[in-house]
Amino acid sequence: MNVEDLPGVGPAIAEKLREAGFNSLETIAVASPAELVATAEIGEVTAAKIINAARESADIGGFETGDKILERRQGVGKLTTGSKSFDALLGGGLETQAMTEFYGEFGSGKTQIAHQLAVNVQLPPEKGGLNGSAIMIDTENTFRPERIKDMAEGAELDYEDVLKNIHVARAYNSNHQILLVERARELAEDLKNTEKPMRLMIIDSATAHFRSEYVGRGTLADRQQKINKHLHDALRFADLNNAVVMITNQVMVRPDAFFGDPTRPIGGHIVGHTATFRLYLRKSKGEKRIAKLVDSPNLPEAEVVFSVLSEGIRD
Ligand code: GTP
Ligand code: MG
Repeated sequence: MNVEDLPGVGPAIAEKLREAGFNSLETIAVASPAELVATAEIGEVTAAKIINAARESADIGGFETGDKILERRQGVGKLTTGSKSFDALLGGGLETQAMTEFYGEFGSGKTQIAHQLAVNVQLPPEKGGLNGSAIMIDTENTFRPERIKDMAEGAELDYEDVLKNIHVARAYNSNHQILLVERARELAEDLKNTEKPMRLMIIDSATAHFRSEYVGRGTLADRQQKINKHLHDALRFADLNNAVVMITNQVMVRPDAFFGDPTRPIGGHIVGHTATFRLYLRKSKGEKRIAKLVDSPNLPEAEVVFSVLSEGIRD
């Protein structure tokens, strides 16, 4: 069943809903009538009817018993960063079935880590990999195959093979970025029974487009709602594919901060609550960087130093 098949939704309304990011029954099922009224220019009653119909047909999940969840958790894999101390900070590496956010100022190493993970995911488990492929949603045009080559050689892999297992898409705006996560789902489906199933999704940067498109106070709620939905789509990808989801986020300077560090991540609470692990990256001397684990369901807050070298991320 598609959005068009919902009662009261014709092609014109379907189009408006899609443009606003309501492109599946699931997204409509969890929307509020007011959101649909605003985006599709329909009455409140129609909106409520559409949502109810979507709720009946959508796969919005249900309750699961604890033993089932434990069974799934036992399948959680860990992906190495390339640095032993960084991995230790994360309890062994980036977890699958979870989202890990890296935030920090320009040059703090977010994109470098993204490249490194796209290489490392292809390693066998005994070397810290997941024997899988990677998807990279590149919003700032910073993907560099040359960097992959350096890092693949640093990991003693054939760089041509490595490049073939990294699926890169440039996202031109936030709606495009949202759509690419949908496409990622299809691509993962296609690769499911191959030698290199999809085990990593990177969104670098997750917030930049939203930040530049939604300017001004009046649009803030709308922006947060879109980011929220987008990140939940990504999290669902992590669950469905037992994959690592890695997102990057920039920081903004808070001019009103009198104490402590005046920077804070974009997207605030929304991103923070969706990401399972949050890491704050800072520059140190030369190639040294500091990573601080600021939020995790089961690990203590701590910091480590790592390096960005030509051959990749190392201790
Ligand atoms: P923004 O996207 O601008 O917010 O920054 P970012 O956090 O993504 O920074 P990025 O990961 O792009 O880090 C850039 C830094 O990585 C550079 O300033 C260099 O210090 C380092 N770097 C990038 N390429 C190389 C390389 O080939 N060799 C070495 N040794 N370092 C590199
Ligand atoms: Mg970057």
